[in-house]
Amino acid sequence: MKKRFFSLMLLAISSYCANAQDAVKKLAVTPPMGWMTWNYYGEDISEQNIKEMADAMANTGMVKAGYQYIMIDDGWQGGRDNRNMMIPDAKKFPSGIKSLADYVHSKGIKLGIYSDAATLTCAGYTASLGFEEQDAKTFTGWGIDYLKYDYCNAPEDSTTAKERYGKMARALQKSGRDITFSVCEWGDRQPWHWAAKAGGQLWRTTADIRNKWKNTSKENSAGIMDVYDINVELYPYASVGHWNDPDMLNVGLYKHAGPAAWSGGNGCTDIEYQSQMSLWCMMASPLITSCNLAQMNEATKRILLNPDVIAIDQDALGKQSARKINDTIWNVLVKPLANGDYAVAILNRGDNEAIYKLDFEKIGLNGKYTITDLWSHKSSGKGKSWKGQVKSHETKLFRLHIQNN
Ligand code: GLA
Repeated sequence: MKKRFFSLMLLAISSYCANAQDAVKKLAVTPPMGWMTWNYYGEDISEQNIKEMADAMANTGMVKAGYQYIMIDDGWQGGRDNRNMMIPDAKKFPSGIKSLADYVHSKGIKLGIYSDAATLTCAGYTASLGFEEQDAKTFTGWGIDYLKYDYCNAPEDSTTAKERYGKMARALQKSGRDITFSVCEWGDRQPWHWAAKAGGQLWRTTADIRNKWKNTSKENSAGIMDVYDINVELYPYASVGHWNDPDMLNVGLYKHAGPAAWSGGNGCTDIEYQSQMSLWCMMASPLITSCNLAQMNEATKRILLNPDVIAIDQDALGKQSARKINDTIWNVLVKPLANGDYAVAILNRGDNEAIYKLDFEKIGLNGKYTITDLWSHKSSGKGKSWKGQVKSHETKLFRLHIQNN
């Protein structure tokens, strides 16, 4: 009898654990897609501009295309009230966050918020250390769906980081609401080894991205190529429910003067923005846009709203591409897809337009394939190789489907 009781208990515990894990996994089955305030508005946010972005996200077809979150980044906080409850800045959010969440939800969009694992955030606002459970409950009460948790003003060592992230993750899990948890310690403590276990669905892998192609000796900061070179090597750590996060998409920011413009972020060409989108999709990255969604031009919409390209990012297999060719000019990435196809990206890092020939055997793909160009939506031939013109800083993106004969 006793034995039977213990086996039943064991069964109950193990099924509880499996359910708890499933519940966490369900939060970001594919990489989260959305828009975040920071790179466009910095601290200068308000309920007005967030509502405008929610309207634009719904009206431009972004919601239909799969963008599902609006994230309020740093600068929303107005301190704590006399019961230590976090409150928003009353000037920026006069109607409160709950009312904003209701508005955003009414557009079919989820709402994210930001805090930090210390007493102050990166921009110096009230943060969550010591108030994890209380803040998680507050966020739940407001209807928050996503938390970006930063690591400014916190100790360097990874043991403390794991503890602090674990504590907030547990508080969120206990809070009774599904809240996606984004670990943001910039890759400094190799979170790809521990963030999933600590309860995160995604983790930043690099320093803040600036709105430029690559670092220069004059302005030491990370551009698209610098972030890509770090994140591309981390492919073994991404899987369904757990993603490497190489930071926001700069697409459409052009010369805008927000935080992405700091330290030499002087903007990119549309070809470079299209490359960022291609590479981020190949890396199964969260697609977090940052330009003004109400003012997107046709080129920006074409880049951000291409369903065939988004499908590569959101593919159900959840694999991040491996870099199969990496020379000074040419990079080739391969991403296996759920239906047996492969996505292949060819990046020309050089300063000149050039012709490239790719033998598929060289990247481990034997056999003959039909080749579809995902940017032009046209067939790009069939066979065992592809040859064509690639502009400087352009990324070609193809879907390869095996031919049966
Ligand atoms: C850090 C993060 C950024 C942004 C700012 C806000 O730098 O990495 O993404 O959240 O803080 O202060």
